[in-house]
Amino acid sequence: MDDIARYNLQRWRALTAADALFTRPYLDLDAQSARARLDPDGRLGDVSGRSVLCLAGGGGQQSAAFALLGAAVTVIDLSPEQLDRDRLVARQYGVTIQTVQADMRNLSLMEPHAFDLVWQPYSLNFVPDARVVFREVARSLRPGGRYRFSCANPFAAGLTERDWDGHGYRLHLPYVAGAVITYPDQPWVHAANNVPWPREYRHTLSGLINGLLAEGFALEHLDDLADVSPNDSAEPGSWEHFTAIVPPWLTIWAARGAGG
Ligand SMILES: C[S@@+](CC[C@H](N)C(=O)[O-])C[C@H]1O[C@@H](n2cnc3c(N)ncnc32)[C@H](O)[C@@H]1O
Repeated sequence: MDDIARYNLQRWRALTAADALFTRPYLDLDAQSARARLDPDGRLGDVSGRSVLCLAGGGGQQSAAFALLGAAVTVIDLSPEQLDRDRLVARQYGVTIQTVQADMRNLSLMEPHAFDLVWQPYSLNFVPDARVVFREVARSLRPGGRYRFSCANPFAAGLTERDWDGHGYRLHLPYVAGAVITYPDQPWVHAANNVPWPREYRHTLSGLINGLLAEGFALEHLDDLADVSPNDSAEPGSWEHFTAIVPPWLTIWAARGAGG
């Protein structure tokens, strides 16, 4: 295990102990709310009987939702505490969820072409080289399989609502692929004071798009307004105001080509 994985293992142990937002399992789902959570824009299609990998997606959220929609779900995550939550929701809903502790940069434990869909919640920025992950995902998907991931908006990585300077949210970090970015967690993520800060890595827009194309993916859709409720009348320095000025995340849908 390298320093990158070690840091995240330790951070996610602290986050789960702090009951942080992304570690809280979804315990009140039914099939309808599961679909609404996963797929408000209707891009997913029928996943019943499909083989779905939630990549770096532990915590008992998306795994439970996919299982309730009838998918055969595997979760890969570095954190045993996050995977515990996937096992908890499997028991709660009486569904099967396979949990595997592994690093997103090495999916060799998985058979090639095993999945119809790889669903990666925000986590790509926890590793410096997105291309390594794209290669592993391409190997794990069947030809024509789909890959959906979220990551930091390349231009805004590291910027938060706390960067309000009275006039705007000032970009100040170098736009360099793989550059380390640290910033304090937002107050809505957790209230603890003993959680190590996020240690993330910038992915440039060209690195993301060209990396996907080079691994044989075709782009299906890009969204830069998902999962936020922007409000430009809100108090400057608030999350709602920040997200009206700076779209914080990208969500990308891609399909693996037939070759390879
Ligand atoms: C923001 S959480 C995403 C999961 C969550 N289901 C959600 O709803 O947002 C990011 C996950 O990435 C995992 N992670 C961090 N680095 C990783 C790595 N190198 N390989 C695999 N998982 C990793 C963390 O343990 C954590 O569970």
